[in-house]
Amino acid sequence: MSNPANPPVTTTQTGTPVASDAHSLTVGADGATVLHDRYLVEKLAQFNRERIPERIVHAKGGGAFGRFEVTHDVSAYTRAALFQPGTEVETLLRFSSVAGEQGSPDTWRDVRGFSLKFYTTEGNYDIVGNNTPVFFIRDAIKFPDFIHSQKRLPGSGLRDADMQWDFWTLSPESAHQVTYLMGDRGLPKSWREMQGYGSHTYQWINAAGEKFWVKYHFRSQQGDLHLDAPTAEAIAGADADFYRRDLYDAIERGEFPKWDLHVQVMPYEDAKTYRFNPFDLTKVWPHGDYPLIPVGTLTLDRNPQNFFAEIEQAAFSPANTVPGIAISPDKMLMARVFSYPDAQRYRVGTNYNQLPVNAPHAASVHNYSQDGAARYHFNAPTAPVYAPNSFGGPVADAAIAGEGGWEADGELVRTAYTLRAEDSDFGQAGTLYRDVFSAEAKARFLETLSGQAHAITIDEIRERFFLYWTNVDAELGTSLREAYARGVNAEAPQQPDADEDAAA
Ligand code: HEM
Repeated sequence: MSNPANPPVTTTQTGTPVASDAHSLTVGADGATVLHDRYLVEKLAQFNRERIPERIVHAKGGGAFGRFEVTHDVSAYTRAALFQPGTEVETLLRFSSVAGEQGSPDTWRDVRGFSLKFYTTEGNYDIVGNNTPVFFIRDAIKFPDFIHSQKRLPGSGLRDADMQWDFWTLSPESAHQVTYLMGDRGLPKSWREMQGYGSHTYQWINAAGEKFWVKYHFRSQQGDLHLDAPTAEAIAGADADFYRRDLYDAIERGEFPKWDLHVQVMPYEDAKTYRFNPFDLTKVWPHGDYPLIPVGTLTLDRNPQNFFAEIEQAAFSPANTVPGIAISPDKMLMARVFSYPDAQRYRVGTNYNQLPVNAPHAASVHNYSQDGAARYHFNAPTAPVYAPNSFGGPVADAAIAGEGGWEADGELVRTAYTLRAEDSDFGQAGTLYRDVFSAEAKARFLETLSGQAHAITIDEIRERFFLYWTNVDAELGTSLREAYARGVNAEAPQQPDADEDAAA
């Protein structure tokens, strides 16, 4: 910070002192403004370029830096340096809403993003997850259609219950996630008071080369709490940045939110014969089959110094893995590995990984990439620019070739996953509703759904909506038709519920 009594002289972007921040250069006091007022032109032009495209999804968010400390020994399952006993790693966590634009209210009903970057000694590792353990679809080719249906009509620019429910009811694999969304998890009390999930199945590889399938669960030490719908609605009008403010203020007060990371671990071979496809993103693994194993604790303790530089320009990606961790044959995850860096090259720029927030903090970068818009770092002039070379340039590590693979072969096809005995679109949604939601949560859920039925204007879609929920649970379907007929359209006050995914 400069001294207010003795501030520096204002300069152009190239460091030349300027004469005024109040008056443009004009031909006489009342005459034309001249184009050669280079400072005026620079100031206006720079201003016009302050915004970059918002994220195509998850545009509204906020985040903070922190640290992850390993508390339990999971080295039997992964050799990744960040998960070895005693390790502490710097982190960045960004929370977000999915469908709303950058200025949209934080407390609109939605799934919430939970994106975590670990700055590890082996490079950056990102877990780009949500506050729910499952997702709406299981094949990436549907993602743009799904998102279009949740955003705005092209003509009116309005969001539309008809297209949302048209897509969902024509995509029955969405039922599990829509049950979460229309339940209490659609309205978290704050970002601090919600769970985080990697959602997908990932692969861990130990020092002996043994492979495991894992799912990540971040359990909030602040609790898993929810707003009631009228409160969420009132907050949406009064303070659109409610969650962002809550997180920032808590950290400024020294109240550092924490999450305990647990993993479910499935032996590699189990996946081949498990009763449903363990790579299907619309399913949870019952904790009875694969219990939670503690790993460590995540603490957020540092607010960004500059929201744009450190949060808006942050680039999280499922492509960012490290040795000892890999992806799985989940059709959503494999496509996400392409999609995120592609989005970030467009949104932030070709050299987005050179920005301080995205560059590794505990590892260094060695490769033959060069040039591109806004290049900042470059190799020494004597460094070779191609591989192989005889001049000591970086050499790839053949020892990690093939790590993170799985057996696969077959014809090229466009088809759904092979069905197993317990693969169904509605089964786990029904279990969540019947066995995990409390009686009060069920009542709130029914009122929310009845309100949604009233928002649908096309009879055919509303009828499909009733059938969809009847498939989740027959009694729910009946109660829903009755509630709709009675005109139930308000959402009742909501209370916190714990462990929604625990029993599914
Ligand atoms: C953001 C694509 C599924 C969580 C994004 C972005 C894209 C994208 C392009 C913007 C990235 C950026 O501009 O930085 C996709 C595609 C998906 C998919 C193609 C399916 C095939 C998922 C799933 C989850 C998820 C399953 C959670 C389990 C997020 C989060 C963000 C995000 C949290 C915000 C990242 C941030 O904080 O910067 N997604 N997504 N997405 N996505 Fe996805």
